[in-house]
Amino acid sequence: MKILAIESSCDELSFGLVEDGIILANVISSQIKNHEVHGGVIPELAARLHLENMPYVFEELNRQTHLDWKKVDYIAYTANPGLLGSLMIGKIIAETLALYLGKPLMPLNHLEGHIYGATIDQNFAYPLLALVVSGGHTQIELVKDVHDFKIIGATLDDAIGECYDKVARIIGFPYPGGPEIDRLAQKGNPNRYSLPLAKNDQSYDFSYSGLKTAAINLYRREQSKPDFSMVDFCASFQKAATEVLVKKLETAIIKYQPKTLIIAGGASANSKLRQDIVHLGEKYQLAYTLVPSLQYCTDNGAMMAKLAWEKLQAKK
Ligand code: KG4
Ligand code: ZN
Repeated sequence: MKILAIESSCDELSFGLVEDGIILANVISSQIKNHEVHGGVIPELAARLHLENMPYVFEELNRQTHLDWKKVDYIAYTANPGLLGSLMIGKIIAETLALYLGKPLMPLNHLEGHIYGATIDQNFAYPLLALVVSGGHTQIELVKDVHDFKIIGATLDDAIGECYDKVARIIGFPYPGGPEIDRLAQKGNPNRYSLPLAKNDQSYDFSYSGLKTAAINLYRREQSKPDFSMVDFCASFQKAATEVLVKKLETAIIKYQPKTLIIAGGASANSKLRQDIVHLGEKYQLAYTLVPSLQYCTDNGAMMAKLAWEKLQAKK
């Protein structure tokens, strides 16, 4: 069975093709260069650029797979959450294809897609406990099966990726600055500057707006001092941003006893989070700890295609 999935929720337009659980193609057209000059994603521009980039995505998919379109069984697409205009372009492409080819449509959830992106080419068992971290979301989800997702904790304000990007912007790094902070953090001393651990309590919820303000204030106060160290600043920020996540995830592991631990979403490319999650999996001897390969961390069609395939396998 072949499924074509279209992902367009933010600034990537991507087609993923899956056959019997195996990814055959993952074509991505990214707009990062177009939004970089504005310091963040401009929603109107993102939707318009999706249209401009659409021919490339079709052509590249044909070039890579020589796809016989009549043999596609389902057309899946990201229905929510995301930028409205961006989502609409993906939906219109999906509906047009489904109508033209006479195939059924599958609307899907973007965050569920991120979670199943981590399962590409990897074994897993239920229940899954997933930490979803991206530019728009920070949450812990308990997944009992592919039709049963429960959000057990979420951010009350900013998402972790958003916090990274906003701090990075003040420092002067281009959008999205999360990866650059992470790169410098690996060379610095995480105990040099002290920053508050946000929402360091018994709940599973997160808060990043306080850390964002504290980090920006700290940077403005310290940057002109002769002993200011950018790598130490980045390392200290990274420690504060990730420590609470890992701590709450650990409490959730003890309570929900998952068989599989997953980290997913754009910020799952973060080196510290990746290391910490693997350690947690080892500490609690979980059957599987899944860290997605970097190509499946940021938004992509393959993760949506994998989600669609799993849903059809476990059809209720
Ligand atoms: O999932 P994604 O591609 O788009 C959204 O749905 O938001 O995630 C993009 C986010 C950006 O905020 C980016 O700065 C963050 O993921 N990110 C990182 C790293 N790589 C990407 N944040 C921290 N460390 C990284 N290495
Ligand atoms: Zn995403």
